[in-house]
Amino acid sequence: MNFMRLVFSRFNIGIYYMTPEDFHTIDDLRDRAQKRIPKLAFDYLDGGAGNEANIQRNRTGFEDILLCPEYLRDVSERSQKVTLFGHTYDAPIGVSPVGLANLLWPKVDTVLATMARDRNIPYLISAAGTTALETIAEIAPDHAWFQLYVSGQEHVSFDLVRRAKEAGIKILVVTVDIPLPAIRLRDLRNDFKMPFKMTPKVIWDIASKPGWAFATLVAGKPVFENLVPYMKEQSEEKSLNAAQALQVSPKLDEALMKRIRDAWDGPLIIKGVLSPKTAAAAKRCGADGIIVSNHGGRQLDSAPSSIEALPRVCDAVGNEMTIMLDSGIRNGGDIVKAYCSGAEFTFSGRSFVFGVGALGELGGARVLDIFVDGVDRNLAQIGCTSIEELGSEYLWASPQNI
Ligand SMILES: Cc1cc2nc3c(=O)[nH]c(=O)nc-3n(C[C@H](O)[C@H](O)[C@H](O)COP(=O)(O)O)c2cc1C
Repeated sequence: MNFMRLVFSRFNIGIYYMTPEDFHTIDDLRDRAQKRIPKLAFDYLDGGAGNEANIQRNRTGFEDILLCPEYLRDVSERSQKVTLFGHTYDAPIGVSPVGLANLLWPKVDTVLATMARDRNIPYLISAAGTTALETIAEIAPDHAWFQLYVSGQEHVSFDLVRRAKEAGIKILVVTVDIPLPAIRLRDLRNDFKMPFKMTPKVIWDIASKPGWAFATLVAGKPVFENLVPYMKEQSEEKSLNAAQALQVSPKLDEALMKRIRDAWDGPLIIKGVLSPKTAAAAKRCGADGIIVSNHGGRQLDSAPSSIEALPRVCDAVGNEMTIMLDSGIRNGGDIVKAYCSGAEFTFSGRSFVFGVGALGELGGARVLDIFVDGVDRNLAQIGCTSIEELGSEYLWASPQNI
């Protein structure tokens, strides 16, 4: 049995032999995805800004937090339900927006939206998504949130807001942490461009992953579906740059954010907040919630980890807004730590995409299973039976425990 596993894994065909339950952690799934996906695409997902110190801090930020176990309590009945903006979700984590996700494996967006609907968790479709927001809204009408990048061309932003409204999406998330795109060295070194520049290096990279190449050939090359209507005049050669230009605005200020607020009737959430001042500005703009996030370490390499930034943001606006968090979550313990530190919901980006990259259509559900199982065990270990019970008293370093 173990010998067969070794053989399959050596030749990278283990996926046909292994079941989802053979992958115990997000890192297991990441490793499998790395074996199946061309380097250029994998690095786009896995990498971050600068020397990627922020990505490392996102992990150490969680690892350095200790929980305080409490025993002699009946924890035989446990629930992970969380109510957010009037909807009760079955798990305390949702899927962060990931642009160009279908590059990693065909249909990542729709696989994850379907999983989110079936498992009753939120799924955020990116303005830079590779599936139209209208399609996602049809698949997951009660679970799809739309994430907007504010464009340098204002009419594009307001048209996307209109489309999300018309598609019946109820929650708008505006990402504010890209005044300019970051330098991502892995992408530069891999000569990552859309469409692929067919250099010998790229051809070899793709040829070495025949499963991905075949699946992508059949599915068709991924396209920024939400931005297509606004890219008509752009030549294909410039499509990545053009798409980037549509997603970035150094002019996004409180006045523009207030106008977006006025154009949207439902809950408005601002994503990419790390400081109490930005949190207060989000409040002034009329946001109902914020996602404390450093974009998974993909923007400001010197930014704090989001788990480190969370308590200060909570102190500033915690009583007035719903505070959520992403960046660096890789297991159920991280989710519990985020809630103990003040988060009212959490999200993960790469984890879910690693899952689909590793296991195709089964991958998103496997990631959620890993998270949910981890949350359940951590809840019981610290003597809690529900997410609402989590608070700072379960942090080892809390003044209450010293
Ligand atoms: C490949 C990739 C693409 C992303 N695209 C977007 C996007 O389109 N919009 C957005 O707000 N955030 C985007 N993010 C950031 C995620 O929404 C999220 O904040 C981040 O992945 C959280 O960190 P984690 O991957 O460690 O969970 C992207 C992240 C990755 C890895």
